[in-house]
Amino acid sequence: MKTKDRVLELLEENRGNFLSGQEIADKISVTRASVWKAIKALENQGYKIDAVTNRGYRLRLDISEINAAIIEKSLNPVKSQYFLDVDYLKVIYESEITSTNDFASGLVRESGEPVLVIADTQTKGRGRRGRNFFSPKGTGIYMSLALRSGKRISEMTEITAVAAVSVSKAIDDVIFKGRDVAKIKWVNDIFVGQRKVAGILTEGFSSFEEPDESYIVIGFGINVFCPENGFPKEIKDIAGAIADGGLEIDNYDDLRNKLAIKVIQNLFEYLDAKKEDCLNVYRKKMFIIGNYVRIEDYKSGIKYAYVIGVSDDYRLEVRYDDESVDLLSSGEVSTQKY
Ligand code: BTN
Repeated sequence: MKTKDRVLELLEENRGNFLSGQEIADKISVTRASVWKAIKALENQGYKIDAVTNRGYRLRLDISEINAAIIEKSLNPVKSQYFLDVDYLKVIYESEITSTNDFASGLVRESGEPVLVIADTQTKGRGRRGRNFFSPKGTGIYMSLALRSGKRISEMTEITAVAAVSVSKAIDDVIFKGRDVAKIKWVNDIFVGQRKVAGILTEGFSSFEEPDESYIVIGFGINVFCPENGFPKEIKDIAGAIADGGLEIDNYDDLRNKLAIKVIQNLFEYLDAKKEDCLNVYRKKMFIIGNYVRIEDYKSGIKYAYVIGVSDDYRLEVRYDDESVDLLSSGEVSTQKY
């Protein structure tokens, strides 16, 4: 292991507390000059390190920093049966970007290498069905995983639902001590209480000439903290943040890094797990089962139906007023009263 990585390990173990240059040097058997060089290298990588005379060095505790180096280190090496050619995931952080989906898409198209792009704010964040995704600075996780899938896009219909399970389980584990708090509204909206706290935009790009160059981009938008001036009026009645006042949160340190890491780890794990593992969580978390809902589909317009359940391929099983039963693959469901 490089001196830099060993220094980082020590600082992480003592995050928030000072370690003198001599202590670090003794623990890893290098000179103080090497420790100093390692600290400079870590700072260049984006780590925020306080250096104070007579006290030493400490990794700064900052609840709102996103740190690509920490995320990249935690995620690698990647083990995936589902995406056979993926063994290393590069993580790129941008403080401001138009859309992480667009940026990640360009990168994977050009280089073919898997990449996770994460931004502190997006100026043109995109949601499903052509909507904007409100992405204010310092409060959310806006990230996109882009990779050459080695599969046809049509063979990956479950990926959006698996992504929804990955996000909701990450929220439960990182924030709510594993309690079943985050819920899913078909297909992939994540709710905490009555509020939508996260959404997923999955985009597939197929190449007919070069099928191996087809790739997929999975974009995650998670509202972690409340924006300073609240949510815009168009979404203020539905949007919410996970760490929103009244909720009991265990530990605010590093929340965004921890959540981002857990989401991606969950995604790779659920894609490799038995199909039922993910399906069972999805069904348990789907809160519209047993409800009478409004379904808006761009092909067939607006309909109302009773939700029976979710099929094995993540389609919504509904019963209309005329007793006919249908399996839906797409559409927007809402549970408002009629
Ligand atoms: C939705 O709820 O309609 C989906 C929202 C997806 C938003 C994320 S934020 C990161 C990525 N980049 C985008 O432009 N959109 C997705």
